[in-house]
Amino acid sequence: MAQWVTVWRAAQLVGVPRGVLQQRVRSGEIALADGLISTETLLALYPQAQLEESGMLERVVQIRDESFGKRLRERVLPSQEVMAQRLFRQSQELADVQRHLQRYHALVIALRDRLREAQTQAGGGDPRLAALQRQLNDGLAHALATEPVDVLDVMDDLLKVVSAQVTVRPSGRQFTVEGHDSLLQAGMKAGLKLNYGCGNGSCGMCKVRVTDGQVVRCMHSDYALSEPEKAHGYVLACAHTAGSSELTIETLEASGPDDIPVQQIVTSVRAVRALAPDTMLLHLQTPRSHRLRFLAGQWVTLGLAEGEQGVRADHPVASCPCDDRNLHFFVPRSANDALAARLFAGAVKPGDAVTLWGPQGRFVLADDESHPLVFAACDTGFAPVKSLIEHALSLDAAPSITLFWLATRADGHFLANQCRAWSQALDPFEYSLSTHDDPGTGASQMAAAIRADLFDIDCAFYIAGPQAFVSTLSAELAAAGVPASQLHAEVTS
Ligand code: FES
Repeated sequence: MAQWVTVWRAAQLVGVPRGVLQQRVRSGEIALADGLISTETLLALYPQAQLEESGMLERVVQIRDESFGKRLRERVLPSQEVMAQRLFRQSQELADVQRHLQRYHALVIALRDRLREAQTQAGGGDPRLAALQRQLNDGLAHALATEPVDVLDVMDDLLKVVSAQVTVRPSGRQFTVEGHDSLLQAGMKAGLKLNYGCGNGSCGMCKVRVTDGQVVRCMHSDYALSEPEKAHGYVLACAHTAGSSELTIETLEASGPDDIPVQQIVTSVRAVRALAPDTMLLHLQTPRSHRLRFLAGQWVTLGLAEGEQGVRADHPVASCPCDDRNLHFFVPRSANDALAARLFAGAVKPGDAVTLWGPQGRFVLADDESHPLVFAACDTGFAPVKSLIEHALSLDAAPSITLFWLATRADGHFLANQCRAWSQALDPFEYSLSTHDDPGTGASQMAAAIRADLFDIDCAFYIAGPQAFVSTLSAELAAAGVPASQLHAEVTS
């Protein structure tokens, strides 16, 4: 018999991005019931999800095209304590189901005996009792018959032990907790904008209320919840992980840049490295107890030493908000940027203090963005675009992601290897690199390429780079009919 699973779990079971299933739901290929997909429908659409004939683990869980068993083995498993707790909960549910089944079985057998007695008392000739007896016996035979196991159900049960599924209310968003991650870490890796502060159990800002399921403490915390908070099920998301395979929590998420406070943090330089003759990577690390909460695509102001007003510059964060301690910046050589001058002169060394103010900016993924995504960058406009792409990949909700990257210098594609790695590892990711020394002309050529490749698709566009690039490409896309709500742009230098 078919089971019903969430879209999130279904995507994990058949090994496709969640956005692909959501698109099939929107096109009517998949019908949802209460937001759930039947495993029968999944098997019909993804018939490669079948039992293999050989191997032990593989006999149960291998998918022919993309090995589920391999994916399972590659995961970092939770701690023994967490696994034991999840198995215990699953065994409890199983025991409950078994107990109910035994009671139903006893009830049906008693009913069959009473029918037999009644038929005997009636002299054996009552046709209505005979029909009832036949129906009962046929029903029992059908219920007790051995049917082939639904492979997706088996895989789902296995996944429930190694990765718990969390539903967030009231948004309804879902994420999975893998390995040793806390609820906060797992939620951030999945691209959720959860509320938090220190990340180490001392501020209390990550409080969530558990409304269904169990949690396990995974880290010491100094922050003390009040007795009423504990009684109402509040826990610290940064210090707890899922103790049951399914968990529902209540918490408010940021809906956009206005919900992210501006912070001031003294970071230290972890590394300074040339990515190309005219582009430096600046890697900053925040203190463990004071991380930067930001949205992908936002920028910050960097100052070389607290109080040094002269050496300040604004730069977009190039890394993913899911790693809020390690912040990357791509700094181009520029006569107008005193910070860049110090970096290129070799005056900034690992261990130096850099003060950071921010985040700022509204160049972020639209809330609940579900269009195919097209990113267009020019030179170091790739920095916020990289952060956005990593965030979109975490969300796993976009049906496809396409990157167009224009370089106005010969060495402008300073992370082409990163693009190649994404495209090799991810089905829905494609990229195109182009070069032109004039950003406006390069943007026009890019617009022509976008029209040729993607224009019949209803995409959302995220554009970053110098003014001439951004204004030309935005104007050409708008003139071609892209609605303003699907055009997002940021001038970066
Ligand atoms: S983020 Fe500060 S206690 Fe969890």
